[in-house]
Amino acid sequence: MHIEVKNVSHEFVTDSGSVPVLQNLSFSVEKGRFVALVGPSGCGKSTVTKLLSGLLEPNKGEIFISEQKVSSPRSTIGMAFQNPVLLEWRNILHNTTLPLEIVSRVTSKLESKKRARELLALVGLTEFETNRPSELSGGMKQRVSLCRALVHRPELLILDEPFGALDAFTKEDLWGTMLTLKKEENFTCILITHDLREALFLADEVFVLSGRPASVQYRLKVGLGKNRKLKDLYSAETTKSLSILRKQIEIAQKNN
Ligand SMILES: Nc1ncnc2c1ncn2[C@@H]1O[C@H](COP(=O)(O)OP(=O)(O)O)[C@@H](O)[C@H]1O
Ligand SMILES: [Mg+2]
Repeated sequence: MHIEVKNVSHEFVTDSGSVPVLQNLSFSVEKGRFVALVGPSGCGKSTVTKLLSGLLEPNKGEIFISEQKVSSPRSTIGMAFQNPVLLEWRNILHNTTLPLEIVSRVTSKLESKKRARELLALVGLTEFETNRPSELSGGMKQRVSLCRALVHRPELLILDEPFGALDAFTKEDLWGTMLTLKKEENFTCILITHDLREALFLADEVFVLSGRPASVQYRLKVGLGKNRKLKDLYSAETTKSLSILRKQIEIAQKNN
């Protein structure tokens, strides 16, 4: 198993008392699989991403990535968030190469640029490599953010609502980009999303988290194959899956 989360419990201690966020959370993800985590707002999804990336240590339980216990931040992870946070003083190419400067000092400048260009080509941004972030649309910036997250060939890509702020059409465009990247690059992916259609379109499996303190309340295997099309989202099977997920979210919200 590539990712193993075993009986993880976590609480935050604040001035007003302790907030139990996760309780006995357990799940595993096979290498190369794409899992979407959905659940009520504030149930602890972003906390899961921080624990997976080693930015936080769980109060109880253990997390393993490739059989190694996660106990500190690791360079074999790539992350992208709702806000792409690109550096305005760097052009698109140099924003994309940034992780290579930080995590792998051995990569030469020439190789870094080659790798970044390979990804920028996959997401259709070759012509924009010398532009500044402010010259790009929201969707384009998010594409750069995905390239930057993948440039150092991470074994795990963690996406925390990366398409949440985009309009519906741009979002669907980005879903396509995500499928292309997944086909070409070899990573396991955990996507946090509020959008159930997005979860079904991108993931192999969807886990619904319960209300806080969260654990996995429901697991749904997605029947769509590797060559998914947007129209598959309107099939009878997907419509049924959507209604199951909606019901599960309702249950989770009641208990949040
Ligand atoms: N650093 C922190 N200190 C205290 N409370 C926190 C901290 N981070 C998150 N929380 C609380 O933990 C709960 C879960 O947060 P989060 O994981 O961000 O939820 P989600 O991403 O599912 O919306 C929320 O109630 C939030 O207020
Ligand atoms: Mg969050």
